[in-house]
Amino acid sequence: MVRSLSDETGEKREISLRVAETKQKDYGRGKVRLSASAMEAIGVEVGDVVELFAKRRSASIAWPAYIEDQEDDLVRMDPLTRQNIGASIGDKVLVRKATYKRAEVVKLAVSASMQGSIQEGFQAYVKKKLFDFVVVQGDKVAVTLLGQPMMFVVVYVRPSGIVKIDDDTQVLISDKPVEELEQRPITYDDIGGLDDVILRVREMIELPMKHPELFRRLGIEPPKGVLLYGPPGVGKTLLAKAVATESEANFISIKGPEIYSKWVGESERAIRSIFRKARQSAPCVVFLDEVESIAPIRGLAYGDSRVSENVISQLLTELDGMEELENIVVLAATNRPDMLDPALLRPGRLDMLVYIPPPDLQARKEILRIHTSRMPLTEDVSLDDLASKTEGYSGADLEELVREAGMEALKRDRNASKVTLQDFERALGAVKPSITDDMVRFYAEWNEKAKKLRRVEKPELLGWI
Ligand SMILES: Nc1ncnc2c1ncn2[C@@H]1O[C@H](COP(=O)(O)OP(=O)(O)OP(=O)(O)O)[C@@H](O)[C@H]1O
Ligand SMILES: [Mg+2]
Repeated sequence: MVRSLSDETGEKREISLRVAETKQKDYGRGKVRLSASAMEAIGVEVGDVVELFAKRRSASIAWPAYIEDQEDDLVRMDPLTRQNIGASIGDKVLVRKATYKRAEVVKLAVSASMQGSIQEGFQAYVKKKLFDFVVVQGDKVAVTLLGQPMMFVVVYVRPSGIVKIDDDTQVLISDKPVEELEQRPITYDDIGGLDDVILRVREMIELPMKHPELFRRLGIEPPKGVLLYGPPGVGKTLLAKAVATESEANFISIKGPEIYSKWVGESERAIRSIFRKARQSAPCVVFLDEVESIAPIRGLAYGDSRVSENVISQLLTELDGMEELENIVVLAATNRPDMLDPALLRPGRLDMLVYIPPPDLQARKEILRIHTSRMPLTEDVSLDDLASKTEGYSGADLEELVREAGMEALKRDRNASKVTLQDFERALGAVKPSITDDMVRFYAEWNEKAKKLRRVEKPELLGWI
């Protein structure tokens, strides 16, 4: 059945096509690939602007199908375009020739963590990269900065509707950040230096969900809750995101402070509804990020949000009420284990404690490798050397270091095609390590405490994953 789109021109030649993946080389290019017959059906030629509609409306440039494509009813698009229209591979999308206008103004926003990277001349660079792109308000667009994708949200366009960016377009970058922008699903390959931790977490989270019979047979109780703790920026949230992608279970994620900000006065109900949703969608992982702000030691004020006792008791009630084989696991993360209400760590609650340490030399090299994997480097850049110069840098610091080096390259030469050792040295001057000796001591003490709290280790079951 063909649904009609709002149309200003009166022309309604639209077709329903099936979404398919593009090759990697087409990622972020703002183009979709269509068969010749599909193009003919809607009256477009290569290079024309097409409007796409699934859950959301967006636009793109029509490009020819790959030579090897046999099917006429495919529209190939990169993951970002799929996100922009709210479609997955295999979904139906309506496609038609677009009515568009020249963009006078396009305003972009970046996530808060990227904002520090924006420097003089950056606007011009972004504009050059987005030349000839078509966008609508609300779209996400990616700009590659020396191999590093940087994500933007189009927060405003003038005139409204579908617009095409050209030489005269004023491209602005908003000083208001947007929420964290995910450009693609995180996998275990995106995490450096935590192989052992990943295995343990998979054993505790994936295994009980994939093979509950194994636990039943061996009479072992699967863990109900796993707490990841460790210094800021070492990959706790990153690891949880990878679990979300890779575990094949449903995933409900909530950031502690949101419980109070998003559900003002209703935080207790929010907890209840999260667990209700989890039960309905089991197998399910409930991820409580920055959990110390949901359940701090009672009496401890957390920021200016008034933590209610009721919220903590509701959380404990939910954890206690979780049936053994309900197939729900709670994953929580914190960098302040000392602030957590101890009741949360009792047996049968968050009883598996996993320490995420700051990266050692080898881990830092791994992390640098991951974050420079698409960055063209000159030969004098040695990741070994960089790893040894970055003692005390967290994963987040290393990521920032790489981004900063890219920015330095751009500052040196607007058309730079590679990042040099000198760029990295400048970046080392600007990005400082965030992990202090005091911090390391604090977590070491906590590890001792955690050992006493930890319940009996389970037998090795990893062969089953
Ligand atoms: N082990 C790692 N491997 C690769 N990248 C990492 C690693 N650790 C951190 N990073 C980078 O740093 C970013 C921030 O890390 P993350 O949000 O996971 O930190 P966190 O441990 O949750 O910190 P916090 O306690 O402040 O919440 C990640 O998105 C990733 O880009
Ligand atoms: Mg985090």
